[in-house]
Amino acid sequence: TPASVAVFVGSLRKESFNRKIADILAELAGDSLRFEQIEIGNLPHYNQDLDDEGTPPAQWTAFREKVAPFDAVLFVTPEYNRSVPAVLKNALDVGSRPYGKSVWDGKPGAVVSVSPGAIGGFGANHHLRQALVFLNVPTLQQPEAYLGGVSKLLGDDGKLQNEGTKEFLGKFVKAFADWIASNKKS
Ligand code: FNR
Repeated sequence: TPASVAVFVGSLRKESFNRKIADILAELAGDSLRFEQIEIGNLPHYNQDLDDEGTPPAQWTAFREKVAPFDAVLFVTPEYNRSVPAVLKNALDVGSRPYGKSVWDGKPGAVVSVSPGAIGGFGANHHLRQALVFLNVPTLQQPEAYLGGVSKLLGDDGKLQNEGTKEFLGKFVKAFADWIASNKKS
């Protein structure tokens, strides 16, 4: 059976470019990986008191239980003010606690940043990687995926207009599948 990949999109926008790219990555994976996008917009802000007092919000518990069984994690994110959107950082924080029960620990991962701008979300991509080092998510190094100028890459149908980008994302998915196979949590 193909490895399962929990996909986190760092934008809540209906017409999110990042969500469209996440959909395209799932399509390109075909039968090699099973992608599932996980909702993060409903998670209350992390507050340690609620875990310490044994009263975590139901959404946190459901999120933790949902993510735990996946083999791998993929982050597809915009850059907000040269960093990671708060909604995605909050999901990382919620999943990382209570201490010692992190859902991220040891799961192989990958990062794709997407922007209409020219820098392709580099700042968000690397701020996210900083957290993933601490969270013990062995993260795919190459190919790096900074997708710039995305508004010109996607047609009105949400499909890629450009063969080169499709080829690149296909290679990215293949490298990620290999990465998961060689880093799978035992
Ligand atoms: C942005 N945007 C942006 N883009 C970028 O390349 N670097 C940045 O630092 C920022 N900063 C930023 C802050 C905030 C608060 C917003 C709302 C937007 C623009 C951003 O890339 C653009 O809105 C994308 O379309 C967001 O991704 P989705 O929602 O299309 O997936």
